[in-house]
Amino acid sequence: MNASVRALLNRFPRLKALLKRILGWVRPSAGVSSNYVQLKAGEAEEESSRLRAAWQAEELPRKQRELVDEQLLAYRRGEPVDVFDVMTRALRALPSDVRGMSVLEVGCSSGFYSEVFDIAGMGVAYAGCDYSDAFIALARQKYPALRFDVEDATAMNYGRDTFDVVISGCCLLHIPEYQAAVAETARVARRYAIFHRTPVVVGQPNKYYRKQAYGVETVEIHFNEPQFLDLLASCGLELIGTYTLDESVHGGVGSATRTYVCQKTTQ
Ligand SMILES: C[S@@+](CC[C@H](N)C(=O)[O-])C[C@H]1O[C@@H](n2cnc3c(N)ncnc32)[C@H](O)[C@@H]1O
Repeated sequence: MNASVRALLNRFPRLKALLKRILGWVRPSAGVSSNYVQLKAGEAEEESSRLRAAWQAEELPRKQRELVDEQLLAYRRGEPVDVFDVMTRALRALPSDVRGMSVLEVGCSSGFYSEVFDIAGMGVAYAGCDYSDAFIALARQKYPALRFDVEDATAMNYGRDTFDVVISGCCLLHIPEYQAAVAETARVARRYAIFHRTPVVVGQPNKYYRKQAYGVETVEIHFNEPQFLDLLASCGLELIGTYTLDESVHGGVGSATRTYVCQKTTQ
């Protein structure tokens, strides 16, 4: 899909949701996510453990970066990119001015959100971590002035309250122990935690899919939304904002992709 079609769809999220329903998936670029297979209850645990390390594959950073570079170019030209726009809106809407705040992105891939924040003039002090050596190597090569660490989202080597804002960067959906990753996000955040691009369902339990991401087999979890919100609250996070990227309802069952913004309530 070329950049202008994507920009058009970003302006019309309902059309995008409709196409997604008809075509199964509207790809931002050929081959990003495909071949979704819903896992049965008995398979979910075993498959998500088997594929836990999938994003550490050596070939993923180069493949993802091809798409990201296209999106960054469009964003620099002033075109809307929905996922970037939602994140910058979420940061700007925080109760305190985000300028000068330290921001950690967990699951940062090649660190491209640092460039998004730069283009958008956010004025934040960005750092990123990811469990993939290959992604972090590319991030360090692309942005040598910034700090990047190899860290697993479920057990990070940062102290409590280290960063003003911690962004869980669309990685929970790939982590079987996602509860531990939410708790860790809350622990290292001093003021705010943002769960970006989180797929949720309403009226049904967590759903698990096996899919291909950039041609690599991975698992994707879609979280029961009320339970997910309870999890945030149990980790001392108060929900203060929700941004919806897409949503649909079929036969009384809802699904959506949202960015949740939370304020830390406990120290
Ligand atoms: C879909 S990409 C998200 C990239 C970017 N943050 C975004 O929002 O578009 C998911 C990232 O999460 C990382 N990831 C997956 N499991 C992880 C884990 N257990 N700990 C840290 N990072 C993980 C992957 O390596 C990958 O870079």
